[in-house]
Amino acid sequence: MCGIIGIITNKKRDLVPELISSLRNLEYRGYDSTGIALIDGTVIKRLRRVGAPSDVLHAEEIAEELEIKEIGQSIGIGHNRWATHGKPSERNAHPHIDCSGDIALVHNGTILNYESIKDELIRAGHMFTSDTDTEVIAHLIEDKVAEGLSLQNALLATIERLEGSFGIVVCSTQEPARLYVAKRGSPLSFGIKNDSLIIASSTNAILAHTNTFITLEDGEYAELAADENGIRYHVGNFLDKRRGITKKPTTITDFSIDELSKGEYESFMRKEVYEQPAAFRTTLLGRYDEQTGDAVLGGLIDHEETLRSTQNIITLACGTASYAAAVGGVLIEALAGIPVRNEIASEFRYRTVPLDPKNTVLFTVSQSGETADTLESVKEARRKGYPTFGIVNTVGSSIAEAVDAGVYTRAGFEIGVASTKAFTSQLAVLYLLALKLARTRGMTLQAGRAFLAELERIPEMMQRTLSETDELMRAYAEKYVAKNIRTINFLGRGIHVPLGQEAALKFKELTYIEAGNYPLGELKHGPIAVIDKHALSVIIMPKDELFSLSKNSIEQILSKDGNVMVVTDEAGARELKKGSIDVVTIPTLSNPLLYPLLEILPLQLFAYHYARALGNNVDKPRNLAKSVTVE
Ligand code: AGP
Repeated sequence: MCGIIGIITNKKRDLVPELISSLRNLEYRGYDSTGIALIDGTVIKRLRRVGAPSDVLHAEEIAEELEIKEIGQSIGIGHNRWATHGKPSERNAHPHIDCSGDIALVHNGTILNYESIKDELIRAGHMFTSDTDTEVIAHLIEDKVAEGLSLQNALLATIERLEGSFGIVVCSTQEPARLYVAKRGSPLSFGIKNDSLIIASSTNAILAHTNTFITLEDGEYAELAADENGIRYHVGNFLDKRRGITKKPTTITDFSIDELSKGEYESFMRKEVYEQPAAFRTTLLGRYDEQTGDAVLGGLIDHEETLRSTQNIITLACGTASYAAAVGGVLIEALAGIPVRNEIASEFRYRTVPLDPKNTVLFTVSQSGETADTLESVKEARRKGYPTFGIVNTVGSSIAEAVDAGVYTRAGFEIGVASTKAFTSQLAVLYLLALKLARTRGMTLQAGRAFLAELERIPEMMQRTLSETDELMRAYAEKYVAKNIRTINFLGRGIHVPLGQEAALKFKELTYIEAGNYPLGELKHGPIAVIDKHALSVIIMPKDELFSLSKNSIEQILSKDGNVMVVTDEAGARELKKGSIDVVTIPTLSNPLLYPLLEILPLQLFAYHYARALGNNVDKPRNLAKSVTVE
């Protein structure tokens, strides 16, 4: 959570527009307040605002408001906040400064022991101007500098006092050609350009400047310098006190800057919903063999024996990624017959899972690769000895680095806070994984080939589903907004239960209306009590062997005056009584286990249109951040 940017250059220029555009690229990480600071000659100039950078930071006004004296600057830092300590307000927005105003810093993470440090600093005479945990860092550094330490050593001494997580970028008027940074638990990378170094909490903000960057690991700090001798960086480790660490820069080539813009779409979410067929196809590319009817997962090639012999699988994830994992779990059990335990990462770390690491493997799923709950649980799993594999979207992210091996999803950058294309790309890998496991356990060659043939058709079927259901979902959304629906539940059986969980999450994230989900058969065991004319039940039920049972449940809901919307395939649609229920038809597939890959699309669109009809921001829903880097 929170977006951090820092720019240092030896070619002085107006850094305000660059800071603002970087903060816009980081907006998905936090958007309740924002701010920048620059070294203007010999003083720090700072501006902070409540709101998202694209709404409240405008370059022309800022230069005037800050009364910038110099023609250009060498150092600027900026921050988008997702409030944890203290309400979103100007006084709590970053950058924070020390008492003298000579030191400015931005921070991502949580300082757990800030209260006792704050008491001590107040007793020593420091003046606090915010309610944040972050501000103690500025005052601690101030004290150390006053004792005669260089800014770097002051930062290192300060870090020793901090419990919790941090990505910190700090500058001082005393060293106007240096930026100092340190990382523990919150992501930080810096980009390398001819005349500048750009440090950020996500490569999104770096890639607009350069495609070459270095990712810092936990325990690392860096000094970034830019002066008449050029740009330089120096990395060290504050845990093992190593001073000079050689780090190989990463260069990303398969990236287009267009990925960071909305293009012709009115929102990132809509763009990403429509990118799903392409993202799904890209994720499958080169990862199966039609001849052998098998998946080819290069990242797991050294672990095939472990996968062949494993008797249990644990999946570990949060939110949308956990629902993708749960769909994958049903699939793996159905196709490969291996018991799968779907663990929520925020729980896993704190409880006992009675499975033997010798015959169990763990798959973790994450879009960002930075989710703190997931990352910490992966570390815990490794400590316990589980072979740990990743299904991660962000190359080089902390989770991708923490696992033994893995398979990248290739969804590209996902900017919309509500995950869409990352979900279906995670399913793409999980479907391949289920096939791989099944082919070593009795699935026939013909069945493997048929499964793959159908998987190959999915992008085309996704495209059809999107174009055939988009307008309909808008009409249904507007109808139910007008009806003032008070209760909504997403129901299904079997593999459609976790799909309903994801649909419910999408709906509540975007509409701010509580949405439930449970297996359809549970309806009669209690939940039916909530059904009345203000309740909507969305039932996911393509034509399969449980279709008739599901039809009974529809009758039960209708008899209580409830509203029903059904997502089904063409054969299912033919058997449903139109008029009394709303029907959403998706293309027919021959293997019913593949339906989740299509079912989610109209349900994403339903949440999207419903939120738009309510006037909500679909890219930046309230209270959320894209990457949850606090536990
Ligand atoms: C999805 O719409 C959510 N914003 C959220 O549930 C997300 O999927 C979850 O926080 C996990 O994130 P990750 O995939 O980056 O680990």
